Amino acid sequence: MKSPRFIVLAIVVLVALAGLAGLVLYQTSGNKTGLVRTTGKALVGGPFTLTDHTGKTVTDKSFVGKYMLIYFGYTYCPDVCPTELQVMTAALDTLGEDADKITPVFVSIDPERDTVEVMKDYVANFHPRMVGLTGTKEQVAKAAKAYRVYYSKAVDKDAKDKTDYAMDHSSIVYLMGPDGNFLKHFSYGTDAKKMAAGIKAALRQ
Ligand code: NI
Repeated sequence: MKSPRFIVLAIVVLVALAGLAGLVLYQTSGNKTGLVRTTGKALVGGPFTLTDHTGKTVTDKSFVGKYMLIYFGYTYCPDVCPTELQVMTAALDTLGEDADKITPVFVSIDPERDTVEVMKDYVANFHPRMVGLTGTKEQVAKAAKAYRVYYSKAVDKDAKDKTDYAMDHSSIVYLMGPDGNFLKHFSYGTDAKKMAAGIKAALRQ
């Protein structure tokens, strides 16, 4: 018998494959000059309205003018999210002065538990300029959809405490340009040195 987690995993794989197919199609269609396009303008990113960790309402426009290193996850995540946020922070530390051009952003896909207060305490563990974003379920769903982030609540049916649950979610760091356009992504497992080098290359373009 297939477990619910297996089905969730299968959905994650299907969504990822669909995204990849879309990217290939986009690159092929934009490939008339024989040059491979590395940016997919329409694929990742878009309008969102969320609340930052100070309680202020922000939109995608609030981040225009600076590069944005953005990651979606949740504060109760036992390992993947804190690891990724540490890698982002270490990558920015490696960049020195160049880091000032980049805003690190952490968006919660668990707004039920990730209130403004929770986000404020959490982002303080990482980069001093890290912006934590949360919102209503609908606002978060819209932002996640724009960034092609998959997430799903994984409830343990035997758990006595209903607030004790995990979130399955895709784990990708996106680098967005000062105009809000997608530049590149870093898949899970990219170390800080590689991420810093990737960002540096994008800044020089
Ligand atoms: Ni996580």
